[in-house]
Amino acid sequence: MNVLVTGGTGYIGSHTCVALLQAGHTVVILDNLFNSKREAVGRIEALGGKPVRFVQGDMRDSALLGEIFAAQTIDAVIHFAGLKAVGESCAEPLEYYGTNIGGTVTLLEAMRAGGCKTIVFSSSATVYGGQNPSPFREDMPIGQATCPYGSTKIYIEQILRDLSAAEPDWHISLLRYFNPAGAHASGLLGEDPNDIPNNLMPLISEAALGKRSELVIFGSDYDTPDGTCIRDYIHVLDLADGHIKALARAAATQGCETFNLGTGKGLSVLELVHAFEAATGVKIPCRIGPRRPGDIARCYADTTKAEQTLHFVCTRSAEDMCADQWRWLTAGKE
Ligand code: NAD
Ligand code: UFG
Repeated sequence: MNVLVTGGTGYIGSHTCVALLQAGHTVVILDNLFNSKREAVGRIEALGGKPVRFVQGDMRDSALLGEIFAAQTIDAVIHFAGLKAVGESCAEPLEYYGTNIGGTVTLLEAMRAGGCKTIVFSSSATVYGGQNPSPFREDMPIGQATCPYGSTKIYIEQILRDLSAAEPDWHISLLRYFNPAGAHASGLLGEDPNDIPNNLMPLISEAALGKRSELVIFGSDYDTPDGTCIRDYIHVLDLADGHIKALARAAATQGCETFNLGTGKGLSVLELVHAFEAATGVKIPCRIGPRRPGDIARCYADTTKAEQTLHFVCTRSAEDMCADQWRWLTAGKE
C-alpha cells in the first residue's frame, strides 16, 4: 500500500515508517517538524532500506493536503500528528483542540475528497479515565478526561465512530496506546523531541546521563505492591509492529474497530528504574516526591482483542526497552 503517515518523523511515527518499509509498503510523510527533526527522514530510509517522500507542512493546511492526495494514490493514512503534552494542554487548550481535532477533521475531509477511506488513528489509554479498573478492555465505557489533551483523544475517537456510522464504507482503526518507550535496536532512531520531556523513560534517561540531578518519583503511597504507580510500558518496535497488523486489518474490514496496544503487564515506576539499572549498569539517583495530580495507581491493557483479532503479541522485554533506549542515547556519543 502507499501510506500517508502524518507525524511520521515523530517518535512513534518514525519507528512505524521503518516497519512499513520493511513490510513492503511505500511511505509519504507529512510533518511540520514541530516536535521532530528532518534527520529522522534519512534514518528511516537507512533502516527501512527504501526512500520515502517527505512533505514538510501542517495537517491543518487543506490546500497542501489536497495537493498530496492529487499527486498520488494514497491507499491508507496512519495518523500520528498532534500535540501530546498533558500539562501544556491545560495551559493552551485552544492550541490542542485546534491542532488535534481541527487537524484531524481537515485530514478526514481531504481523505474523502481524495478517495481514501482507510485510517489508523493514534489514540491513548487515557480515554479509559480513572474510573475503569485495570486491565482496561476496549468495551469499557469511555472515562472522564483529566486534561484537554485527553479530551482531544476522546472527541476524535467519537468523530471517527460518527463518521463510520454515517458512511459505512470507511475502514477505521482506533489504537489505544499504553506507555510507549525504548528505541530502535540499531541505536539509530529514538525519541528526539524539541520540547522538554514529561514521560518517565526520557526522564530516567536524563538522570542516567547526568542531565538532571535526580529522578523525582511522583508518590510512593499508592495502593500497589511497592507504593509507586503501575503502567504498561510497550517497546516502540512492538508498537510499530502493531500498526502493520492494524493497517492490514483495517484495509480488509469496513467499519470502526478499537484495539489496545500494550503488553498486558504492569510495571511500577520503581520496577522500571530497576530494569533500566540492570540493563545499563547505571545507577539512577531517585527521590520520592509528592503525587502528580491526575495520575491513577494502575493503567495496563487487556490484550485479548489485539491478540485474537490482530494476532498481535509483544515480543520485547522491559530490559530490551531500556537497553535499546540507552544505545540510542549513547551510541557514537561517548
Ligand atoms: P511526537 O510528538 O514525537 O510525534 C508527533 C509528530 O506530529 C511530531 O513529529 C510533530 O512535529 C508532528 N506534528 C504536530 N503537529 C502537527 C501538525 N499540525 N501538522 C503536521 N505535523 C504535526 O509524538 P509521539 O509520541 O510519536 O505520538 C504520536 C501520536 O501518538 C500522538 O497523536 C500522540 O498523542 C499519540 N500517543 C502518544 C503516546 C506517548 O506516550 N508517546 C501515548 C498515547 C498516544
Ligand atoms: N513519573 C514519575 N516521575 C517522573 C515522570 C513520571 O514518577 O518524573 C511516573 C508518573 O507518576 C506515572 C509513571 O511515571 O506513574 C508514568 O508517567 P508518564 O508521564 O510517563 O506516563 P502516563 O501514564 O502518566 O501518561 C502516558 C502518556 C499520556 C497518555 C497516558 C495514558 O504520557 O499521553 O499515558 O495513555 F495520555
